[in-house]
Amino acid sequence: MTRTRIAAALKDGQPGQETEVCGWVRTRRDSKQGFSFIELNDGSCMANLQIVVDADTPGYEESIKSVTTGASIAVTGELKESPGKGQRVELQAKTLEVIGTADAEKFPLQKKRHSFEFLREIAHLRPRTNTFGAIARVRNCISASIHNFFQSRGFLYINTPIITTSDCEGAGEMFQVTTLDLARLAQIQVEIDFSQDFFGKPASLTVSGQLEAEIFATSLGECYTFGPTFRAENSNTSRHLAEFWMVEPEMPFCDLNGNMTLAQEFIQSVIRDVLEQCPEDMDFFNLRIDKTVLETLNNILDNDFVRLPYTDAIDVLTNSGQEFEYAVEWGKDLQSEHERFLTEQHFKQPVILYDYPRTIKPFYMRCNDDEKTVRAMDVLVPRIGEVIGGSQREERIDVLTGRMQECGLDPDEYWWYIDLRRYGTVPHSGFGLGLERMVQLITGMTNIRDVIPFPRTPKNAEF
Ligand code: 4AD
Ligand code: MG
Repeated sequence: MTRTRIAAALKDGQPGQETEVCGWVRTRRDSKQGFSFIELNDGSCMANLQIVVDADTPGYEESIKSVTTGASIAVTGELKESPGKGQRVELQAKTLEVIGTADAEKFPLQKKRHSFEFLREIAHLRPRTNTFGAIARVRNCISASIHNFFQSRGFLYINTPIITTSDCEGAGEMFQVTTLDLARLAQIQVEIDFSQDFFGKPASLTVSGQLEAEIFATSLGECYTFGPTFRAENSNTSRHLAEFWMVEPEMPFCDLNGNMTLAQEFIQSVIRDVLEQCPEDMDFFNLRIDKTVLETLNNILDNDFVRLPYTDAIDVLTNSGQEFEYAVEWGKDLQSEHERFLTEQHFKQPVILYDYPRTIKPFYMRCNDDEKTVRAMDVLVPRIGEVIGGSQREERIDVLTGRMQECGLDPDEYWWYIDLRRYGTVPHSGFGLGLERMVQLITGMTNIRDVIPFPRTPKNAEF
């Protein structure tokens, strides 16, 4: 017999059907009348399949004591209409095989609720819990939805490099990649000669695929990247990871307004897909994680995002009468508390802030005529703050090289990027969405370490 996934058995299984299921035991109860109930989960859905094992089932005596929480088993039997509430069918066992035992005394996942902090320490087992199963399925749905959104609009999926020799954000927050023997070099204390290194010059893990995406956008049209990015910023917050996944669309012949429109449609489309395709997991998040998550998401679907210049946002914040930990001042970057005030309290919906001071934004953003601001945009959403950062790109070669110098970057190092402005330059725009922040928004999970399978943060790269 071939294995049926529990999701399929619960959804389509008919009473009378012979079925085999395999999975991990969540609980077992033994009745006084001499039979047992097993709650079995195989990760295909949130729900467990209830299995009834009579005492005269072959193997019952020898096996049943090993059917403990965490053990893996295979069961064949017949689906029956379930008298219990909340499930359509249950499985009446005919054979029961314990595949892998789990010592009940030692298995770290007990029936009680565990804290997310504790579960982070057992990241190899946490996918066996309801919460982390649901997160994995929703994250998968979000990833598929992202590809569908861009594919259905004719965007090309481009794989940009992970190892790079240029710093896209110019913020110097890159992890170095080297094959030099650092221990030996430290002993002899010589000046490091990077011509001896693997790539013949200093190389790093990428902070963004944008610069390379621009190459393809200005050759082939609308495109997007979707891959891992790395930032060595030492921020221990609930919204920062050292390794995260970013989606970066890039569009030629597109200005900042077109960019904002795409960002809104993109976020709404992904949310709509998840609500449609993962209703059971979403009900769970709304019940157990954040009672307002469905309301927040439906509100995002129902309203156009507010579009507000940075300068106006500073006015809103200064006139709000709100006490902030960090002072609000034109020319300073907004803190998460400011962003959240705007989207959660003031506007109560997503806000796209744009035209930020040039001094706080990277070199590649298009300069406005006021000489003070650039065509940047950040999309702010409730509970998260910034979920998207993007801009219209500077397409004028002289302005671009001027900005590089202003930012302390050497234009020679970016010669190929500058070439795009030399040969057939066009206005173009794009943005980056942090996948994990999007998963946080949709699931209501408060800590970003819990929405990526294996988080990398300062002093933490276990698993
Ligand atoms: O605003 P950022 O730095 O923009 C860029 O990297 C541009 N090159 C994107 C582009 O225009 N193509 O990052 C984009 C998004 C942020 O809005 C945030 O959601 C996420 O990436 N992000 C992080 N997510 C988790 N941990 C971090 N350390 C993050 N840094 C940025
Ligand atoms: Mg940003």
